[in-house]
Amino acid sequence: MEQVISHVKSNFDTYIEELKDYLRIPSISTLESHKDKMNECAEFVAEKFRNAGLEEVKIFPTEGNPLVYGEWLKKPGQPTVLIYGHYDVQPADPLELWNSSPFEPVIKDGKIFARGANDNKGQNFVYIKSVEAYMKTIGELPVNVKFLFEGEEEIGSDNLEKFIRTQNKLLKCDCILISDTNQYAPNMPTITYGLRGLLYMEVEVTAANRDLHSGSFGGSVANPINELAKIISSLHNKNGKVTIPDFYKNLFPVSKKERDNFKRLKFSDKNYAKDLGVKELQGEKGFSTLERLWIRPTLDCNGIVGGFIEKGAKTVLPSKALAKISMRLVPNQNPEKIAKDFAKHVKNLAPNSVKVDVRKMHHGLPAVAPLDGRGIKAASAALKKAFGKETVYTREGGSIPVIVEFMKQLNAPAILVGFGLDSDDIHSPNEHFWLSNFEKGLYTSIYFFDEYSKT
Ligand code: BES
Ligand code: MN
Repeated sequence: MEQVISHVKSNFDTYIEELKDYLRIPSISTLESHKDKMNECAEFVAEKFRNAGLEEVKIFPTEGNPLVYGEWLKKPGQPTVLIYGHYDVQPADPLELWNSSPFEPVIKDGKIFARGANDNKGQNFVYIKSVEAYMKTIGELPVNVKFLFEGEEEIGSDNLEKFIRTQNKLLKCDCILISDTNQYAPNMPTITYGLRGLLYMEVEVTAANRDLHSGSFGGSVANPINELAKIISSLHNKNGKVTIPDFYKNLFPVSKKERDNFKRLKFSDKNYAKDLGVKELQGEKGFSTLERLWIRPTLDCNGIVGGFIEKGAKTVLPSKALAKISMRLVPNQNPEKIAKDFAKHVKNLAPNSVKVDVRKMHHGLPAVAPLDGRGIKAASAALKKAFGKETVYTREGGSIPVIVEFMKQLNAPAILVGFGLDSDDIHSPNEHFWLSNFEKGLYTSIYFFDEYSKT
């Protein structure tokens, strides 16, 4: 093991240079205009797989962005780890708030800054390099591995889910290892066992058939922006509960033991509020902040467009307004059903003077992974070796849509070992990843393969 670790130490600077090349590719999955960048990034990943010593490296085209697969299966009798990552990233805007260009990685104060630095290129690169380090030193791995990286995580993973359903044999494994989450706090090794799901909708309100002079027409027809604002504000009641009928029906109960575990994590509302620059926190009444983040469903408007949005003033009564609204879901909530309930509810809230279109964009299921089993044991032992501390177990408010499909189709547990931090600004300007965590991530991965072969 020590020779693998020292190989990583002496090659660390090259790894960073390679990671920079990975981060230079603007693989933004939600932008139609970036198709060629997605293909370029898939090729890049395939090449890195090959260089690491993985075999049968293949790019699988899908209806959307390609999947990249690679394997090393030369340890019969040892378990197989499926390593999942995503090479797609979120859009970089608003660009003017970045201190350096999002696709020209910069290292500053021990962190690498770029879109995707944490989510997920920095984190998934850890596994490519740790396999490579084994191959270049010992010449083999202690366990079998399969790698599967996708390019559509940030848009719901629909095509990967289809792929998993038809590729049971190819993907057969004993556990699914994923680093796409965060540590509970700096230098606190963390395994995440629950993620919320997501339902993403678009609401378009139309009044008159064209934009109008707001003086000549104002007062005679509905203003779609005003009406959309009313709709949005009716989606919560005064206790912060979502008003969609049946939204909270049959939520999977959360045990007292689990809530007590949350309490032990000693979350400070005060520090959290201070860090975010708000005087006070807000949310559903009657639940602690960690409960509101991890086990309660929420609804948020993610974007709103309408009327004149340039600098200056224009007196216009717009014809249309549009809102992007998403919901974070928890176990037992059914995204398809909630999408229908939401559409009906929004239409009921709107007056006859406007036309409302509600469209579903994508969804992902909430997931809870088991906390027992050999994989979890090996992961926490590996984390302890790499970070020198005991692991904490957390849930997460964000989503990784494909986890449920993986666990269901492959009948294997997902193990979520995050090397990011909540302060890494993922999906936000100045996303970054701590190089110290990249390094400890490499050690964790190296120790994990070893521990997993021994447990
Ligand atoms: N890496 C994140 C999930 C995550 C978010 C982990 C925050 C830890 C903290 C993942 O890439 C992600 O952003 N998922 C999307 C999925 C969605 C677009 C379907 C999300 O949660 O918004
Ligand atoms: Mn993300």
